[in-house]
Amino acid sequence: MSEYKRYLITSALPYANGPVHIGHLAGVYVPADIYVRYLRMCGRDVFFVGGSDEHGVPITIQARKQNCSPQDIVDKYHNIIKDSFAEFGISFDVYSRTTSKIHYKTASEFFEKLYKEGKFIEKESEQYYDEEAGQFLADRYIVGTCPKCGAEGAYGDQCEKCGSTLSPDELLNPHSALSGNTPIKKRTKHWYLPLDQYEPWLKEWILESHKEWKPNVYGQCKSWIDGGLLPRAVSRDLDWGVPVPVEGSEGKVLYVWFDAPIGYISNTIEARPDDWELFWKSKDTKMVHFIGKDNIVFHCIVFPSMLKAYGDGYILPENVPANEFLNLEGDKISTSRNWAIWLHEYLRDFPGQQDLLRYALCANAPETKDNDFTWKDFQSRCNSELVAIYGNFVNRAIVLTHKYFGGIVPENLKPEAIDTETLAQIPIIKKNIQDYLENYKFREALKEAMNMARLGNKYLTDTEPWKVAKTDMERTASILNVSLKICANLALAFAPFIPFSTEKLLQMLSLPKELLLWDNIAKEDIILPGHKLGEAQLLFTKVEDEVIDAQLQRLENIRKENAAKVKDEEQKPLVLPQKEECTFDDFEKMDIRTATVLEAERVPKTDKLLKLTIDTGIDTRVIVSGIAEYYTPEQMVGKQICILANLAPRKIRGIESKGMILMAKEPDGKMRIVTPEERLANGANVG
Ligand code: 2FM
Ligand code: ZN
Repeated sequence: MSEYKRYLITSALPYANGPVHIGHLAGVYVPADIYVRYLRMCGRDVFFVGGSDEHGVPITIQARKQNCSPQDIVDKYHNIIKDSFAEFGISFDVYSRTTSKIHYKTASEFFEKLYKEGKFIEKESEQYYDEEAGQFLADRYIVGTCPKCGAEGAYGDQCEKCGSTLSPDELLNPHSALSGNTPIKKRTKHWYLPLDQYEPWLKEWILESHKEWKPNVYGQCKSWIDGGLLPRAVSRDLDWGVPVPVEGSEGKVLYVWFDAPIGYISNTIEARPDDWELFWKSKDTKMVHFIGKDNIVFHCIVFPSMLKAYGDGYILPENVPANEFLNLEGDKISTSRNWAIWLHEYLRDFPGQQDLLRYALCANAPETKDNDFTWKDFQSRCNSELVAIYGNFVNRAIVLTHKYFGGIVPENLKPEAIDTETLAQIPIIKKNIQDYLENYKFREALKEAMNMARLGNKYLTDTEPWKVAKTDMERTASILNVSLKICANLALAFAPFIPFSTEKLLQMLSLPKELLLWDNIAKEDIILPGHKLGEAQLLFTKVEDEVIDAQLQRLENIRKENAAKVKDEEQKPLVLPQKEECTFDDFEKMDIRTATVLEAERVPKTDKLLKLTIDTGIDTRVIVSGIAEYYTPEQMVGKQICILANLAPRKIRGIESKGMILMAKEPDGKMRIVTPEERLANGANVG
């Protein structure tokens, strides 16, 4: 690591549309903060960037729901998030926001330079437009039926029911979430970053030169690159964001994923206006992005391509140690279902206990796979590790020193082999911790720190100073001298992980914060005989069963509320709002007839489609209909039905379908065919 002169550490800018939860902390901010604190202890020149990501469609949706402006939303959550991070000791050098003036300027200039240098492709495409709202519809603003699972209410980019990624064009019966109307297609111009042109370079840079990246990160990059990269739009038709700085592009803003990573740069400029370039443009700066797995493509492929396109000496990330996701009690953390432990709520329920959560989240971090946070695991980590091992050792060493030596560090009057053997372990553990930290293995690093506390505990158990004190005060002095050395080393070794406890321990040992240097670990003179200790306190307090039960009860209540909501939702009669008025002429255009099903068969490889051959009185024709969920082919044969006869023919699964069967949707979502009360001649006009 020593070839680098300075470090630029970024942590994903969270969206300012809600508070932050344990998933954020475990995935990104705790590991980033541990790394940064460690580097600072090593005396490195570090700049740690954070901030809120304040653009994007979800923020505008939230504002619409709450009947306020997007700015109101981000003002509220930016402050909540910023405070939560500060309370948890996430030691940013800057925590700013993407609605800042300097960010607008930086992002605009960034776009402008690429635009002027012809680094973008300009393309026109047809996109959904809501005529009543007078605006283009972002993917999230288009809702319809999922083509994959048939669920209603799927979004233009994703179906939340089956989890499929969608594009607005795939949605069946698309309508605007703004007005409920069916949107029209309208041409619009956008700018694209031609990622395909960067493919050979990305192959070389990532796949050849960064084989050391974590397997989950490298694997995702490889599959993106192998799948072939396409130009990516960097602008959107939206009224919330950084305006596209090109004449004639009113109503267009930079795509949130274009402006957000530039936020890292803007925030550095804001805090270090005079020397920000030192961090961003020097070959001897090491840049590391801490992110969650859903951000990998943007930080490994898109942002580096943007920086490469910009040139001007910008450096690229040396590593992107993305984590997987943290679940909660077996379920995916979800903001909409309130299935989360929100940091501001944790602070209310566990005041002053930030380190317990930092510890539990690091010990159980989703470094290589998704992991589960459970309150029982939290309790056991706190009680059986922090309290029973680290806290217990420190407490015994300090209390005994007060008892036998009036709180003064005793001389090493009667050393024995076990003392040197024990102390000899400390530099080994130190080296292990640093090796793990430098390779982003935070869980392992923390385990090693706890091993140092185990070492101390074992030493006290083996040497039993409380017994020795009855006969041999000189030996007791040595034992406590060694124990206090271990205590001081522990304060330092744990400092990156649980900084509040380190501060408390330093107070108990009456040692100055200036001691917090990695080099001081294992130093002979870390604490000297004659030094007066501070007052003994409990380093950690036990987490009682009642406290955990209360948290579990809270989650149980949320589970019940969610289940009730789902049930309500399922039972809700589905009455769609009346459609826009139509004229008699519109109606007259539709030729609705009675007809009889002659043959019916399933369309191969589909669950929902039946191919029906019908006698319309006019002709015999084929209609493909999505009714297989409700009727078997056998049930359909012989049935009289009503059809829209003059609907333009369409090919469905390669079969030409001429017309549409009239169906009525029941309140529970089931569909039934509409059939005349008594059998009529085929081809009778319905109207
Ligand atoms: O996934 C997210 O929460 C994004 N707001 C992260 C942005 S990271 C960076 F690019 F700003
Ligand atoms: Zn679906």
